[in-house]
Amino acid sequence: MDIRPLTGGLGAEIIGADIRDPTQFGDIRAAFSKHSVIVVRDQQISPDDHLEFARRFGPINVNRFFKPVDGYPEIAMVLKEKDQKEAVGEGWHTDHSYDQEPAMGSILHAIEMPPYGGDTLFVSMGAAYDALSEPLRQFLHGLTAIHSSRHVFGTTAQDSEAAQSGRLNNAENATQDAHHPVVISHPLSGRRGLFVNPVFTTHIEGLSKAESDAILNMLFEHCKQPEFQCRVRWRAGDITMWDNRATWHKAINDYHGFRRLMHRVTVDGSAISSH
Ligand code: SIN
Repeated sequence: MDIRPLTGGLGAEIIGADIRDPTQFGDIRAAFSKHSVIVVRDQQISPDDHLEFARRFGPINVNRFFKPVDGYPEIAMVLKEKDQKEAVGEGWHTDHSYDQEPAMGSILHAIEMPPYGGDTLFVSMGAAYDALSEPLRQFLHGLTAIHSSRHVFGTTAQDSEAAQSGRLNNAENATQDAHHPVVISHPLSGRRGLFVNPVFTTHIEGLSKAESDAILNMLFEHCKQPEFQCRVRWRAGDITMWDNRATWHKAINDYHGFRRLMHRVTVDGSAISSH
């Protein structure tokens, strides 16, 4: 297989691989550990192949809120119909950061793509951390942030088109409020990275609302710099896997009038810490 970095920030494209082949798994996992985002091109796979590949990384984490694929409760449907306006995942976020043990990674399979657009952007939270000044890093170390599912998937968020159209459900189960260090050490590599995101992080503990909003907004603007990003331009059949402990992502909603359908499988993670 040919592994080509996407940018200097993160991400790699893998050509000539087959995720169904167990003998290729070691190389694919090594690329994932190194690049945090991998795009495995041109996979002719079934939902069962998708699940089997995910299980090689660990147990499946079943998403509580996304409508599942018919007959596959472990596969979440990420769908925008041609007459819908809102895409799921449009804001910069880290999947499941509202869980006390955030999911390790997500594996998205492109089933039906629009003729143009519908790309996904990723940010390296390690690169964003590395670019901070030493005094600011010192200030952030030891701080804890709260992440919640309530304002995104809960009963107060039911006027969104995604909820109204049935793409999201189980609002009554959106009761997660997790505490995580603002700076974490990656559980596998030990690399330091920021662990706050615009969609799910509500505030930093111990700061006033004004202080917390100012610090979070400053960090969010800092992280959005193009130098820390890569962009995945999908083709139907591609599989992209990302590391939730090391990245943010954002679905670009620029294909109005066309359908886009992805299948997403998420893999369990572990508690994260600053050590
Ligand atoms: C997601 O946020 O999991 C979906 C990303 C995408 O649809 O590109």
